[in-house]
Amino acid sequence: MRRALSMAAVLAFAASPALAQEPALGTQAQRDAGKVLYEAKCAHCHGLNGDADAVGAAYLRPAPRDFTSSTFKFRTTMSGELPSDDDIRRSIREGMPTTGMPPWPTLSRADVDNLVYYIKTFADDFSGPFGIPEMIEIPKAPSVSAETIARGREVFVENQCVDCHGNGGRGSGKSAPTLTDQWDYHIRPADLTKRWTFRNGSTREDIYRTFNTGLDGSPMPAYEIEPIEDRWALVDYVVSLSADEPNYATAVVATPVTEINDAAFEATPPSLFAIVGQVVEPGRAFYPGISAIEARALVTADQVAVQLRWNDMIADTRGMNGPDLPVDETERWIGAPDTSGTFSDAVAIQFPTETPEGVEMPYFMFGDRKSSVDLWFADLAGPTGQHYIGNGSGNVRAGGPALGLRAAYDDGMWTATFTRDRNVEGHIGFDEGAFVPVAFSVWDGFNAESGNRRGLTSWYYVYVDVAEKPSPVGPMAGYGFLTLLLGVGITAFMRRKYSGA
Ligand code: HEC
Ligand code: HEC
Repeated sequence: MRRALSMAAVLAFAASPALAQEPALGTQAQRDAGKVLYEAKCAHCHGLNGDADAVGAAYLRPAPRDFTSSTFKFRTTMSGELPSDDDIRRSIREGMPTTGMPPWPTLSRADVDNLVYYIKTFADDFSGPFGIPEMIEIPKAPSVSAETIARGREVFVENQCVDCHGNGGRGSGKSAPTLTDQWDYHIRPADLTKRWTFRNGSTREDIYRTFNTGLDGSPMPAYEIEPIEDRWALVDYVVSLSADEPNYATAVVATPVTEINDAAFEATPPSLFAIVGQVVEPGRAFYPGISAIEARALVTADQVAVQLRWNDMIADTRGMNGPDLPVDETERWIGAPDTSGTFSDAVAIQFPTETPEGVEMPYFMFGDRKSSVDLWFADLAGPTGQHYIGNGSGNVRAGGPALGLRAAYDDGMWTATFTRDRNVEGHIGFDEGAFVPVAFSVWDGFNAESGNRRGLTSWYYVYVDVAEKPSPVGPMAGYGFLTLLLGVGITAFMRRKYSGA
């Protein structure tokens, strides 16, 4: 594709050699210095020869870039062109959120330059006429309005962004499960409701650039949408789908209500928690399919309910799942989609079985020998909630009180609501004003997650709000107070944990 698009550049280069710029390749000393750095910091993922044949490539998805392919995703240059030096510098400096590519903020400017020159030695294209890529122009952005966002929605649908990114932009379009990149790895469309995960930048100008340049090597195409106003309208629509920043929470407030129902949940602000891949015990070395989970909680006089929501590319409701399934370590996770339907999607809420005394909590990985955890588990292939007790991830067994479950998948999002009696002899209680430790696990069946191969959080809290408190300053004051309380609690915890011990 590059060759076709760059004919103009070739002709210009051939016709006026005196005027043509030379590609910037650095001096031998700079490339040598770059090589030393590259071999120390980059080669274990990108390969000694730049061809991504390295340890890291086995379990990272997207896989580390193969620099010998001359294909780069994140550019300010036309589709099919090489990146500019600044593009490579930016990729190194800022890294790529939610992928294996770390940011390198502490490297000096000279170090980064040397790395750029060395990376360019892996592909001959950089030293030829294609080494001076054609840049894209970004006109000044007009202002945003409700009308431009509405027009953007139309442009989004007309250009079939929906096929991959889904109707709601959650990355769940009908083609999503089948997409592969140029290196034959399965690749997921971006979740447009999480703009902070964009690797090509998340400002309006960045998003404009992304669909004008395309992400070469990935199925994300380059678009030439006319008129230009429609491009900005599309940008405005994409921006409207997401908050700027994730706003992660430290607690879920369980709000007292007279009846547990959808309207009561909708009236409660959600708390968002980041999900990370389990990396401590066997089952690690995989890349989790789910990046965040949202929780809400309600209490009535005799019931407690927790509602969880998370975006998932596809609902896996065939097969089965369980927190107690053994992970076959010999069967290495290869990032390939599990289309066999062996594992269904699943989710679990974890509480200590008994209210912890002081600050000692059960181990966050399904408890430990001394202190057990209660697991409220939902295998989303089935209609019922299952209760498990865990004394460590090797010792999880079914048992405990009855759970209610309601679960549904719609437009790229799972909603699962658990209910339990508020007080159950021998299990965690939800007294007014209590801080109840809570953690979450989520399994993406398509990503072959089961047992201890799962996305998880560490411990957070459910704060059981006090019913009928007349508040002259409005409900938000309660949340302010909660943040303060948590701050005090955490400080006390750190003091105890690290003082004189
Ligand atoms: C832990 C593994 C890892 C390490 C270490 C690492 N990278 Fe990467 N790198 C990746 C992955 C994964 C990607 C692909 C991300 C994607 O496709 O979104 C990537 C992508 C890139 C890209 C591609 C940008 C594009 O436009 O396609 C560049 C450039 C890059 N890395 C440079 C470096 C340099 C230089 C270093 C060392 C200072 C380095 N990386 C270290 C994993 C790594
Ligand atoms: C054929 C499938 C497909 C279509 C159609 C498609 N995309 Fe994408 N898009 C992808 C994939 C796959 C990625 C993720 C690429 C990656 O991870 O490297 C992506 C990524 C993105 C990103 C995030 C880039 C970043 O910085 O990380 C944005 C924004 C985006 N697409 C917008 C759009 C818009 C707007 C449209 C319609 C004009 C569109 N896409 C059409 C497949 C598609």
